Amino acid sequence: MSSPTPRAVLAGTGIAVPSREIDNAMLARVMDTSDEWILERSGISTRFYVEAGVASSDLGAEAAAAALEDAGMAAEELDYIVCATMTPDHYFPGAGTSIQHKLGIDPLPVLDIRQQCAGFAYGLQVVDALIRGGLARRVLLVGSDVHSCLMPYSEATWKVLLGDADGPLDAADYEHNSRFRHLLVLFGDAAGAMVFRAERQSESGILGSALFGDGGQKEILYVPGVGSAHRPWIDMVMLETSTQVPVMDGRKVFKLAVSHMPRATADLLAAQELSLEDLDLLVMHQANLRINQAAQRALRLPDDKVHNNIQRYGNTTSATLPLCFHEAREMGKAPPGSLVAFTALGAGLHWGSVLVRV
Ligand code: ACO
Repeated sequence: MSSPTPRAVLAGTGIAVPSREIDNAMLARVMDTSDEWILERSGISTRFYVEAGVASSDLGAEAAAAALEDAGMAAEELDYIVCATMTPDHYFPGAGTSIQHKLGIDPLPVLDIRQQCAGFAYGLQVVDALIRGGLARRVLLVGSDVHSCLMPYSEATWKVLLGDADGPLDAADYEHNSRFRHLLVLFGDAAGAMVFRAERQSESGILGSALFGDGGQKEILYVPGVGSAHRPWIDMVMLETSTQVPVMDGRKVFKLAVSHMPRATADLLAAQELSLEDLDLLVMHQANLRINQAAQRALRLPDDKVHNNIQRYGNTTSATLPLCFHEAREMGKAPPGSLVAFTALGAGLHWGSVLVRV
C-alpha cells in the first residue's frame, strides 16, 4: 500500500517588529489628521517603522531565524524558501535570496511572490503544493514589508514626525502629506515567518485553499507610475506628480473585503466538509479593524474565534497574517489540533482563504 500524500505541518512561527513606534499624534504633526479620525475609521493606534536603510530582507531574515528557532530546526535543514513582499529591497531581485544569504545557508530554491496583502495566503498555497508534490520537505515562508520607504515624505517631514526637529512643518510639505493621508496613516513595517515540515501520518497541516485574482479591479489599488507600462519606467514627471505613491479607492476596497473574505472562508470550509462551528480561529488580513469586524459579523463568529492586532501594528501587508497568528498562538488561541482559517484581500485584486490544522 502506498503511503499517504505528505502534508505541510506547521513547525514554528517567528516575527520581527522594528523598534520605532509611531503613534497617531506623531502623524498629526505632519499632515491634516487626528488620533480620533484614525482610531474611529481604522482602529489603528500605533505602527512601527524601521530605521532608514533597514530593508524587507533584514526584517524577513530576523523573523525567519525566530521561526526556525521555534521549530527547533537549523536553517541548513531547509530545502525551499518562499518570500512574499510588495516592498523588496530592490526593484529586482526579490527579497528571498537576500534572506537566504542573511541566514548564511547554501544555495537552495528560493521563490519570490507578489500578491501584496494576499501574499502570505498565496504563499501558504505554494508551500502546500511544494510539500504535497514531494518537491520539498522543510519550507520557510516569509512575509515582510517595509512601508515606511514608500511614504512620500521629505527629510523635513521625517524630522518633525520623529521629533528630531520642532514643528510646525512648512505649509507645502504639510499639504503634500495631507494629500495622501488616507494611505499614510494605515501602514507599518514588520515581518512574520512560518516553517513547515512534511509529515505523512498527520491530521495536522495545510488542509486546502481557495484563492482568486481579478485584474479587472486593478485600478482601485495600484501604483500608477514606475514600471514597464511606461517608457522610461521612471522619470522626473512621475516623481513630481507623485505617481510612485499608491492610488487607493478605500471605500471600494473596503466593500470588496467585507464580502470576499467571509465568502471565501465559508466556501472553503464547505468544500472541506467543515463548518464555521468547526473553526477555532479566524486570522484576517489587518487592513482596517472595521473591515474585520464586519467580516466577523457576516460569519457570525464569536469574539474568542477572531484575533486582530491592527490596533498596534497597522497594515503590514504580507506580514499581517503571520504576525497576527504568532501573537494569537502565544496567547493560547491556536493550540495544537485547532482549526485556523487565514483570509486576506489586497491589490491585484487578490484574495482568498487557506485552512490550516495546527
Ligand atoms: N485623517 C483625516 N481625515 C481623513 C483621512 C485621515 N487620515 N483620510 C481621509 N480623510 C477624510 C477624507 O478626505 C474624507 O473627507 P471628506 O468627507 O471631507 O471628503 C473623509 O475623511 C472620509 O473619507 P473616506 O475615504 O470616506 O473614509 P473611510 O471611512 O472610507 O476610511 C479608509 C478611509 C480608512 C482608507 C477606509 O476606506 C479603508 O480602510 N479602506 C480599505 C483599505 C484597504 O483595505 N486597503 C487594502 C490594503 S492595502 C494593499 O493591499 C497594498
